[in-house]
Amino acid sequence: MSEEVLVAKGLTKKIGGKAIVDSIGFTINKGEIIGLLGPNGAGKTTLIRMLTGLISRSEGTVTINNNDLDKEFRECMEEVGAIIENPEFYNYLSGWENLKQFARMSRKTITDETIRRIVEQVKLTESIQDKVKTYSLGMRQRLGIAQAILHHPALLILDEPLNGVDPKGMHDFRELMRDIVESGTSILISSHLLAEMEQLADKILIIENGKLTHIEELKKSAIATQEGMVQLIIETAEIPLLHKEIVEMGLTVLFCEENRVMIEIEKDQIPSFINHGVQAGIPFYGVIPYTPTLEERFLELTKGGSLK
Ligand SMILES: Nc1ncnc2c1ncn2[C@@H]1O[C@H](COP(=O)(O)OP(=O)(O)O)[C@@H](O)[C@H]1O
Ligand SMILES: [Mg+2]
Repeated sequence: MSEEVLVAKGLTKKIGGKAIVDSIGFTINKGEIIGLLGPNGAGKTTLIRMLTGLISRSEGTVTINNNDLDKEFRECMEEVGAIIENPEFYNYLSGWENLKQFARMSRKTITDETIRRIVEQVKLTESIQDKVKTYSLGMRQRLGIAQAILHHPALLILDEPLNGVDPKGMHDFRELMRDIVESGTSILISSHLLAEMEQLADKILIIENGKLTHIEELKKSAIATQEGMVQLIIETAEIPLLHKEIVEMGLTVLFCEENRVMIEIEKDQIPSFINHGVQAGIPFYGVIPYTPTLEERFLELTKGGSLK
């Protein structure tokens, strides 16, 4: 069984009689990057604030590494690193001095060697002795992440960390997140940016109007991971021959163009489908597994939802 880092059940926040987070439950396992996706105002920040004890819950329970957030708050917080809104630093101190300051406040012992390693991990080694007021937005973000993982928490929580990050920054950010997960810290990230989330997360929780409306397991490749039926796009100059084989094998055609056909087929049938096709003289120019993007699936699920 996988190790549960966070279990949230029935989380609800009511303000003025209105539930802005409404009975949300989910689990984060060790080694996972979970994306919390939803339009602005959906309730992401409110949910994260409840998970980190920054605001009270109207209903629901949270356990972090099997500790109850109400009864064992301290133990829980020792296993969480979070950046909610903008990380706060002493601007007139260097990055290093800021991290040292934070390390001194931690209940765990954090050595200079650990700080150095994490500074290296977030790629701030060259500028760590500069004053934070000289840092760019991206550097401040990385310093924030360094601060949040200094005590090697089981869970890192980042609220909308991708706002204002350029494509190169995104790439570096993704690598950093993978690296952090490999070092044993699971990650919860909130965002209203669909495409970025899709590239980053293993699983996506979609939140709309305070409710958890969908959970999407992201499959990196249809062929590698999907059991049962898969969709294939076949490219060939011999559509009539291809059609003959499709009929003979009793397959379903999803769409057909001048030199492309999309079919639905059992994964197990693919090798014999290709073998027969080659023997029948079909020139295959491409056999491509079709994986709809999260955006396509999301639009289908919500019949034109509000996420952009
Ligand atoms: N303290 C509060 N009092 C009243 N309404 C609030 C409060 N905090 C948040 N809200 C409302 O709750 C909803 C969810 O807000 P928030 O959690 O910040 O969403 P998100 O982070 O997904 O953009 C919004 O409609 C917001 O206006
Ligand atoms: Mg928010």
